Amino acid sequence: MLILHPITPANWQTFKTIRLRALQDTPTAFGSTYAKESQLTDADWQSRAAQWTSPRSIAYLAHDADLPVGIAACFLHEDNPAKAHLISMWVAPTHRQQGAGRLLVTAIIDWARSKNAQTLFLMCTSNNTPARKFYERLGFTRTGRTEPYPNDPALIEHEMAFKL
Ligand SMILES: CC(C)(COP(=O)(O)OP(=O)(O)OC[C@H]1O[C@@H](n2cnc3c(N)ncnc32)[C@H](O)[C@@H]1OP(=O)(O)O)[C@@H](O)C(=O)NCCC(=O)NCCS
Repeated sequence: MLILHPITPANWQTFKTIRLRALQDTPTAFGSTYAKESQLTDADWQSRAAQWTSPRSIAYLAHDADLPVGIAACFLHEDNPAKAHLISMWVAPTHRQQGAGRLLVTAIIDWARSKNAQTLFLMCTSNNTPARKFYERLGFTRTGRTEPYPNDPALIEHEMAFKL
C-alpha cells in the first residue's frame, strides 16, 4: 500500500536518496542535474528539507511499505499566491503505472486548494511524452507558453496547467 509522508528535516536522507535517483533516472525531466545536486553537502540537504515545510511550500515522498518510491513538490508563486507550481515529480520505474503519481499529484492539488491557489502549473520537457500523457490524464492542459530547456538546447519546456 502506498503512503505519503511530507518532507521534513527528519527524513532528509530519504529525500536526498530519492531526489538523486530521480535526477539519474530521467535526466532531462528536471531543470536541475545529478552533477549539480550530487555535490550538495548533507547540511545542504537538511536545509532544503526544512524549506519544504513552510506555509508556502510542500513536498511529499511516496512509500510502498518502507520503500521510498516517489516524490513531488509544490510552492506558491512568490508574487502571486493564486499560482502554485508543481515540480520534482518522479516515481521509481518499478512502481510506475500503479497510481503513485496520481496519489502524489492529488495530495499536491489538495494542498494548493487549501492555500486558495487558483491554478497549478508545471513545466514538461518536449521529449517527455509519458509525463505529458500522465498529466493530461490527470486533467492538465498545455497553456501554449514555452521556455528553453536549460540543460539541452534541442529541447524546450511546455507549460501545463490545472484549474484548482
Ligand atoms: C510521469 C510519472 C510521474 C507518472 O507516474 P505514475 O505513478 O506511473 O502514474 P500513475 O500510475 O499514477 O498514472 C496516473 C494515470 O496516468 C496514466 N499514465 C501514467 N503514465 C502514463 C504513460 N506513460 N502513458 C500514458 N498514460 C500514463 C495512467 O494510466 C493513469 O491513468 P488511469 O488512472 O486513468 O489508469 C512517472 O512516469 C515518472 O516518474 N516519470 C519519470 C519522471 C518524469 O518524467 N517526471 C515528470 C517531470 S515534468
